[in-house]
Amino acid sequence: MTLPASVHIVEVGPRDGLQNEPNWVDTATKISLIQRLGQAGLKTIEATAFVSPKRVPQMSDSSVVLSGITRLPGVTYPVLTPNLKGFEAARAAGAREIAVFGAASESFSQKNIQCSVAESIERFRPVVDAARQDGVVVRGYLSCVIDCPYEGAISPAKVADTARQLFELGCEEISLGDTIGTGTPERVKRMIEAVSAHIPINRLAGHFHDTYGMAIANIYAVLQMGIATFDASVAGLGGCPYAPGASGNVATEDVVWLMNGLGIDTGIDLAKLVETSAWISHQLKRPVGSKVGKALHHSAV
Ligand code: HMG
Ligand code: MG
Repeated sequence: MTLPASVHIVEVGPRDGLQNEPNWVDTATKISLIQRLGQAGLKTIEATAFVSPKRVPQMSDSSVVLSGITRLPGVTYPVLTPNLKGFEAARAAGAREIAVFGAASESFSQKNIQCSVAESIERFRPVVDAARQDGVVVRGYLSCVIDCPYEGAISPAKVADTARQLFELGCEEISLGDTIGTGTPERVKRMIEAVSAHIPINRLAGHFHDTYGMAIANIYAVLQMGIATFDASVAGLGGCPYAPGASGNVATEDVVWLMNGLGIDTGIDLAKLVETSAWISHQLKRPVGSKVGKALHHSAV
């Protein structure tokens, strides 16, 4: 398999990265993070989530964040919308791209969005229909594509079936989430094989949390299968509030380093990204959670 000439990195730090942050992050800091990521060359920056503020308090300023961004040309700023209420609020704040989010695990679906997998598909249907009517692009996330924190292993067949339902609903891209980061390359490849029997591989994205340090290995494995869109979070920020023990997404810097080494274009300025990684880590008063970010930041000072 020849590797692609370029890959698309979807930066999820401002949403997946910050949603689980226990201390309140100022709205101005969130907006500044999004601006800096745009200046570093990220073309898709998931900005925030229009979810229940009782469930995810850190995202309660979503309208102010989204309407406060100075949009850069060629950059998109998708947001999470679990239901019509979220969709309407997102549109009112200027959203032009949205994402619905479901799970391949019943227990995770119940914990995360308070409904069964089948109910979630019915809840998303009017959201996707309304979005498509407005010309809004919809992504579908699927969580627990490898393991569920409550149920253990999820079968590739169940993942493939739920992914297919999201795709048939009208989601243009399906992001496959290894929510707790337990995946290893051969398991991940089996899951992608099952899903790609129903959905063209160029409509799939990899969303790897790095809890066990396997995300880069998994990305390299599925890159060779034809996946060319990867979600990542600057400085490796994050974790899911409904996935106990889950640490952050794979760090954007680590993915860019991998792609640079493979001669694959990302369009991202690694030096600016590393600066942003150091900046946000400083704001959050924590060490940089990316190996590449740490190494390059130290070598720059
Ligand atoms: P529910 O309790 O079934 O909703 O929650 P409801 O319709 O019965 O409403 C309950 C209350 O929530 C009401 O308020 C609604 O107004 C309010 P109250 O009357 O009690 O004051 N509400 C809302 N408020 C703001 N925006 C909304 C909204 N909807 C209802 N959109 C619901 C269902 C989905 C709303 C809730 O469970 C929720 O918001 N969950 C959010 C979960 C979340 O954000 N999780 C993290 C993101 S997913 C993730 O991280 C995984 C991913 O990264 C991939 C991976 O790694 O696997 C994507
Ligand atoms: Mg995630």
